[in-house]
Amino acid sequence: MAEFTVDTLLAAVTKAYTDKADDPRFAEIITGLLEHLHGFVKDVELTEQEWMRGIEFLTDTGHMCDDKRQEFILLSDTLGVSMLVDALNHPKSGLGTDSTVLGPFFVDGAPERPYGDNIVDRDIGGALALVRGRVTDPDGNPVADAIIDVWQTAANRLYDVQDETAPEWNLRCKFRSRADGTFAFVTEKPTSYAVPTDGPVGRLLRAGGRHAMRPAHIHFVINADGYDQLTTHLFVSGDEYLESDAVFAVKDDLIIDFPNCDDKELAEEFKIDREFALIDFDFGLMPVSKKSAAA
Ligand code: BEZ
Ligand code: FE
Repeated sequence: MAEFTVDTLLAAVTKAYTDKADDPRFAEIITGLLEHLHGFVKDVELTEQEWMRGIEFLTDTGHMCDDKRQEFILLSDTLGVSMLVDALNHPKSGLGTDSTVLGPFFVDGAPERPYGDNIVDRDIGGALALVRGRVTDPDGNPVADAIIDVWQTAANRLYDVQDETAPEWNLRCKFRSRADGTFAFVTEKPTSYAVPTDGPVGRLLRAGGRHAMRPAHIHFVINADGYDQLTTHLFVSGDEYLESDAVFAVKDDLIIDFPNCDDKELAEEFKIDREFALIDFDFGLMPVSKKSAAA
């Protein structure tokens, strides 16, 4: 029979997609997706006007994406989907540093800078911080030549890619861990900021009466041969948005103090000319897992 009913349509669509599918994982994913998508439409008894609003919302989301803006990632983040994927793929093991969202502002291809460099290319008076640490394996042994991508907002609460007046790659670069696993850089102490609200995700947040703030943090993505990629943040303790992050991405072990430091020798070594905070944090990598090796 060519005509389907509310009760028979799901099975027919699922069969059409899976009968000749070569890839069993594709078949599993499309079956689950269809089940939940059809189930959702039935559960809320979606009207035609609501269906059209949904289509317009997704169309607007796509139109908001380019090489500097990723509204689909922002949507996933604010719906908690990114953190669900994170939690499923990186269950707490007590070993290695906790991971968290990538977010929409990662940019591939940032320049490498030398150990200890100051990554503030435009000084707008933000408080300074010296961030030092080591990249290690789960036993605490140093991991050399790890590539550490770092990015964060400036004191004006904007990423370089959101701010036409910022120099390219401001507060964004790569470091390479030294033979003893160490890395260090001078930066601004991050501040809390709002995720972009001028697009469809902003409308969604407002519809739910939600704020758009993220607690202050520095982003890190660390890659080293033989280890799983680590995508994480360091959050500033005491931030007022730690309990209500717009993207649900705070993990307790990633919240750290930014204590003031008055060590003159350190200031001289890292060419810091004013008050600064000192952060020491070691990142633990996990040996490459079968799952990521297969991907
Ligand atoms: C970020 O931290 O850059 C970010 C993460 C999720 C959504 C928006 C921004
Ligand atoms: Fe961020």
